[in-house]
Amino acid sequence: MLVVDFVHKLSNSDEKPTKILIVFYSRYGNTARMAEEIAYGAKELSNIQVTVRRIADNVPMEVISNDPAWTKIAEDMNDRYPTLPIEDVIKELPNNDAIIFGSPTRFGNMAAPMKSMWDGTTELWTNGSLVGKIGAVFTSAASVHGGQETTAVSMMFPMFHHGMILIGVPYSVEELTESGSPYGPCRIVGRLANQEIEQADIKVARALGRRVAEVTKKFISA
Ligand SMILES: Cc1cc2nc3c(=O)[nH]c(=O)nc-3n(C[C@H](O)[C@H](O)[C@H](O)COP(=O)(O)O)c2cc1C
Repeated sequence: MLVVDFVHKLSNSDEKPTKILIVFYSRYGNTARMAEEIAYGAKELSNIQVTVRRIADNVPMEVISNDPAWTKIAEDMNDRYPTLPIEDVIKELPNNDAIIFGSPTRFGNMAAPMKSMWDGTTELWTNGSLVGKIGAVFTSAASVHGGQETTAVSMMFPMFHHGMILIGVPYSVEELTESGSPYGPCRIVGRLANQEIEQADIKVARALGRRVAEVTKKFISA
């Protein structure tokens, strides 16, 4: 199922839905695949509205079109996960009860398009628009010790600055000894693009989605 299928899919309850936004950047599709599983996990609870948004590559189109392999990947990604302009993604952030951010690991840090999104949130920051929102992060990396944890933690810095309340993955999720970290789900994908996702990765990603949904539901009804 495509991630966009989750948009506006509500239960029959009259109760106001708990709104969760998943925002990710992905060049090869590995982080994108995690976003899908996190959405599935959140949807295990009733009356949860999940919206998934992909941030586009931040390089000029001619750079992508000069590279046939990148062009093919970019076309596949655009078909499967359409993008919104970054300003529109930023505008959507405050309309949600929880926001989960995903980025590939790049030199032990988040990818530039994700950082660029944060750098466009000054108005939200000065207005305190994200204060009290629940948040979480996820990443994918090529190698086991390639900086997945530093990426997850550094993705949290702007979230703390915005006053968000952060959630990780507890060790009660047994697969956490095989995949990800307490700071958030992480896939190890090697050098190849768009690897098949492992069962342990799915379990940890779904556990995060479900946990964010559970905590957010309790938090907004308290
Ligand atoms: C510029 C660049 C820097 C990267 N830095 C790291 C790194 O520090 N550690 C690592 O394990 N993988 C690194 N990678 C590999 C990416 O993390 C990997 O390709 C990514 O997780 C794939 O995610 P995606 O399919 O969502 O784009 C890097 C890739 C690129 C292009």
